[in-house]
Amino acid sequence: MARHRGMVKCLAYALVFLVSGCATSAPVVGRVPDDAKFVGSAACQLCHDRQYVSWRKSWHSKIVRPKTGSILREAVDKWAGDGTSPGPTIGNATGKAFALEDVQYVVGLRWKQLYLVPNDQTGNLQFMNMQFNRASNKWETYAQKNDWNTQCATCHTTGYRITAYDEQAGKTVKSEFAEMSVGCEACHGPGSAHVASKSKADIFNPADVDVMAQSKVCGYCHLRLENERWKTAQGNPRDDFPAPRLGETYRPGDDWTQWYPHEVIIPGVQAGDPFDKEYAGDLKDLFKTDEHAKATGVFEEAKHHQQYQGFIQSAHYKTGVISCITCHTPHAGSGKTQKVARETCGSCHDASYSMDKYMPNTGLTAGNLFVRSHTFNKAPRPGGQGAGSLGPPNYYGD
Ligand code: HEC
Ligand code: HEC
Ligand code: HEC
Ligand code: HEC
Ligand code: HEC
Ligand code: HEC
Repeated sequence: MARHRGMVKCLAYALVFLVSGCATSAPVVGRVPDDAKFVGSAACQLCHDRQYVSWRKSWHSKIVRPKTGSILREAVDKWAGDGTSPGPTIGNATGKAFALEDVQYVVGLRWKQLYLVPNDQTGNLQFMNMQFNRASNKWETYAQKNDWNTQCATCHTTGYRITAYDEQAGKTVKSEFAEMSVGCEACHGPGSAHVASKSKADIFNPADVDVMAQSKVCGYCHLRLENERWKTAQGNPRDDFPAPRLGETYRPGDDWTQWYPHEVIIPGVQAGDPFDKEYAGDLKDLFKTDEHAKATGVFEEAKHHQQYQGFIQSAHYKTGVISCITCHTPHAGSGKTQKVARETCGSCHDASYSMDKYMPNTGLTAGNLFVRSHTFNKAPRPGGQGAGSLGPPNYYGD
């Protein structure tokens, strides 16, 4: 097997990694005590201002927010219509009419935005019938009829749990979360014990666990699946992955790949559910399975938020020394700047290895926009327009 120069550099990197890991002979691996409670990201700022300020700027802190200050200016300007298509008019679950002033929360901001209004039948939030596409500056149809709280919230909030479930009907009746959007505790676990003790032993740090477990911390949300164990308020399989037991919440470090395996389908992750199987419903066409895929044995992501499923096919993952956090740090740290993912290639490879060459935009998100593949296929396919290249959003009122 041909060994390129990059390999040598990487082994050196891996060695540094191991040596620094061994330097403190018995590293403290923090574990959040069972009775710890969620305290919210604002409570962490007191002692971790640098991380907090950096996280506040990141997209994780912004995925779901109250309308005021977060709704896109273009969407407000075009609420009545964009010249070719009307804007949002009804709630998808109840079919009732809603106006701009009824919108309570917005979902997304970078490349598309969706609008949440109350569902008076369930007490949850439902979607309006059109989403705004930032690249085309137009409305496109959005048909999701399940309540946001019961279809998307595990991945778009922190500390999500189901608190009441109708087993007979197969419906989520009530659920709660600690904080909207992806807060500190989504990656570090509930912080009450740590805030009181200030001890490393009471908080989870993804960098402390083995490399494959690190990727699982991110993969819990950067994933696509179909959940038959838990159904939405409308009685359909959920797209997210709440904890196995009622009232309990996922904690980073949990090995969710072992959760209720017979009631959830996670293509590529579970034995028996390969990438190239013909799936139905929402799992249909999640991966490229054409001739190119067959020839290379690599099934690129065809939709967004499948980075974990792309990545586990890569040579990077299989080395056992590279995880999501090798290239992405979610915030700056004490004495550390936040990593710029596209600049990491050069630390292990020669200049012929670049993001543009090896990470084509294959994962469809809004109508004409795609996110980058994480399969690192050495025979990459051509990609589409990159969602990541859009400029910063304009907010109404700014
Ligand atoms: C009252 C001060 C205080 C608050 C509030 C606080 N921390 Fe800390 N945190 C500390 C101190 C002190 C350390 C360093 C502990 C050590 O090195 O033994 C630390 C360390 C950490 C670490 C690193 C652990 C490691 O492996 O090195 C993480 C992660 C962390 N805190 C997360 C949080 C989160 C998340 C919150 C909010 C839920 C939070 N902290 C709130 C004081 C605080
Ligand atoms: C609780 C769910 C959740 C977890 C856990 C999570 N993410 Fe995310 N991530 C999201 C969501 C939702 C977005 C979309 C934010 C947006 O674009 O509005 C996102 C966006 C991102 C982005 C693109 C935006 C940016 O800031 O560049 C990166 C990169 C990313 N996540 C990496 C990670 C990594 C690395 C981890 C693990 C250390 C991780 N995520 C853990 C839900 C999660
Ligand atoms: C399994 C976890 C998961 C579920 C379930 C999920 N999402 Fe996401 N979502 C993510 C992640 C991770 C990202 C960012 C990475 C990406 O898009 O590739 C994201 C991105 C988004 C974005 C783009 C954000 C932006 O700033 O443009 C929107 C909008 C969105 N999700 C809406 C939804 C809706 C609506 C649902 C429910 C029908 C949903 N998501 C369900 C994990 C999830
Ligand atoms: C999307 C996941 C994610 C979120 C959200 C997140 N962190 Fe982290 N955090 C990490 C990862 C991964 C590391 C390890 C980075 C490394 O060492 O390369 C880390 C490391 C840390 C550390 C120890 C290293 C250092 O000195 O910075 C502290 C303290 C910390 N985080 C606090 C916070 C606080 C406070 C927040 C919220 C304001 C937060 N984190 C939000 C993933 C996250
Ligand atoms: C921490 C070191 C490291 C970083 C950072 C890194 N790589 Fe790699 N890369 C490796 C290793 C190790 C392999 C596996 C080499 C092997 O098995 O021959 C690899 C393999 C690859 C391959 C597959 C090549 C093949 O012959 O199968 C591609 C493509 C690739 N990397 C692209 C990138 C890109 C693009 C970036 C930046 C976004 C990047 N890498 C960042 C270490 C790294
Ligand atoms: C070898 C480096 C590398 C690894 C490992 C890696 N990524 Fe990325 N990732 C990148 C680069 C480069 C980009 C594009 C950044 C840009 O556009 O500037 C990216 C983009 C993203 C985005 C934004 C979507 C887009 O297309 O802009 C998300 C979300 C993301 N990565 C999540 C993850 C997750 C989750 C993992 C682990 C399962 C992971 N990444 C592992 C290099 C990496």
